[in-house]
Amino acid sequence: MLIIRWIRRHRICKIFLLLLFVILTANVYYFIHHSMCSVESSKKLLEDLCNLYRKREVLGNLCQAICENSLIRFDTCTNYKHGKKVLFVECDACEPPASVKAVLKTKSDLLNRDKLDISKPNDILSTQTFLNLSNRIMRDSVLSEFGIDTSFIEDVLSELWFGRIEDYIKESGLPYPDASWVAVQSIWSLFRQDEYAFMKLHQAYTFVPKIYGTCGPIYITEYTPSGSELETSFLHRPGSSWNQRASIAISILNLIKTFNTGLHQPLEICDVKGDNFGIGDYGRVVLLDADTVFFRDKFEKDILNDQCRKHTDCDFFDCRGLCNTTTGKCIQRRVNNNLQSVCQDVFLGILPHFFAGLLHSPPSDFKLELIEILEKCAYPSNNKADIVRVPATDETFRKLHTLLSKSIR
Ligand SMILES: Nc1ncnc2c1ncn2[C@@H]1O[C@H](COP(=O)(O)OP(=O)(O)OP(=O)(O)O)[C@@H](O)[C@H]1O
Ligand SMILES: *[C@@H]1O[C@H](CO)[C@@H](O)[C@H](O)[C@H]1NC(C)=O
Ligand SMILES: *[C@@H]1O[C@H](CO)[C@@H](O)[C@H](O)[C@H]1NC(C)=O
Repeated sequence: MLIIRWIRRHRICKIFLLLLFVILTANVYYFIHHSMCSVESSKKLLEDLCNLYRKREVLGNLCQAICENSLIRFDTCTNYKHGKKVLFVECDACEPPASVKAVLKTKSDLLNRDKLDISKPNDILSTQTFLNLSNRIMRDSVLSEFGIDTSFIEDVLSELWFGRIEDYIKESGLPYPDASWVAVQSIWSLFRQDEYAFMKLHQAYTFVPKIYGTCGPIYITEYTPSGSELETSFLHRPGSSWNQRASIAISILNLIKTFNTGLHQPLEICDVKGDNFGIGDYGRVVLLDADTVFFRDKFEKDILNDQCRKHTDCDFFDCRGLCNTTTGKCIQRRVNNNLQSVCQDVFLGILPHFFAGLLHSPPSDFKLELIEILEKCAYPSNNKADIVRVPATDETFRKLHTLLSKSIR
């Protein structure tokens, strides 16, 4: 009571206390967020994987490097959320002869891997049929999940893996039917992880981290951290210049253009935040968390909720929808867009000027114009109180791109 009376008397203090509270909560959150993984569980993951490999229940081009000659070694782990395991490793097999840092990922439960549900072959002829059938199932899944037509690729199984499936089958030391079965199941357990499938199918694009290889349901990718410029932080971090940050922002804008018009279908990125972008070699910007990106057809068919009572029932993270309250159904499209989400969540940051977005502290001669464009981009309908359900315009894109380019010197 006393405290409350005191606060009432000192109105200014309210704001200060609120600030203090936010900062404290932020620190606690940061601490919990970064300490939820253990060295033991990470090592256990690799042990379990290698036990499976020794029993020849999994195959992959990097199994040997992980399990036999220590060319891939555990370094540190990140937090493990919703069953997704991400650890950093030291890798001599990734870009030989160099030893590089790399990222080992899996969303699969090792002992309960996703299995392709067809019958196991037992002789040469049935193995041929099995491989043909697996190929066809894979081809159909790639089409339905990603809208990508692979009819011109003869061996889709190998396309989704590393090296030719026939070679692994020969080298595995298992009888032909068993080897084919293990190989196909290894590929399937990878393919069922959206992020792997998306990344593997788009390795030709510079915005996708390189995948070095796999073992069973785990895959190892290039290490492309967000860096201090992009990591979500609660206060401005010193050390990165405006030029650096503005060029990253321009790269992200170029990426958005690619997502909108440069792929076979528009790509909706639904979990937009600074730390889901990384920086790779030559300063290229990459997409780190491909679990929440969807091509438009798939998004409109499968991701959007059908039934709704209010608009938020039709949201999927940053991909916002609208509820038609007359019919009780979501309209089948996203109503904001990639640019709006990026402006709000990456460029501005959650609350401008306190939470630090990528484009904080611009040079003073660009400041007013930049803030005006960014606010129009993040809040196209000028309403900051509500969840934004309006797209940012192409004109805003052009203005922002031009201004950022001009601001770099
Ligand atoms: N290629 C990479 N290089 C460096 N760090 C990475 C890479 N991929 C992921 N990370 C980091 O590992 C952590 C978890 O990765 P990821 O985003 O894939 O998992 P997640 O469980 O979906 O996490 P989140 O919900 O925070 O996005 C993140 O902190 C991310 O920055
Ligand atoms: C498998 O497919 C290949 C090429 O598509 C074909 O030549 C072969 O006859 C098929 N085998 C079986 C058993 O279906
Ligand atoms: C809601 O659906 C009804 C029936 O299909 C349609 O007439 C109406 O225009 C829709 N309303 C909105 C806001 O889309």
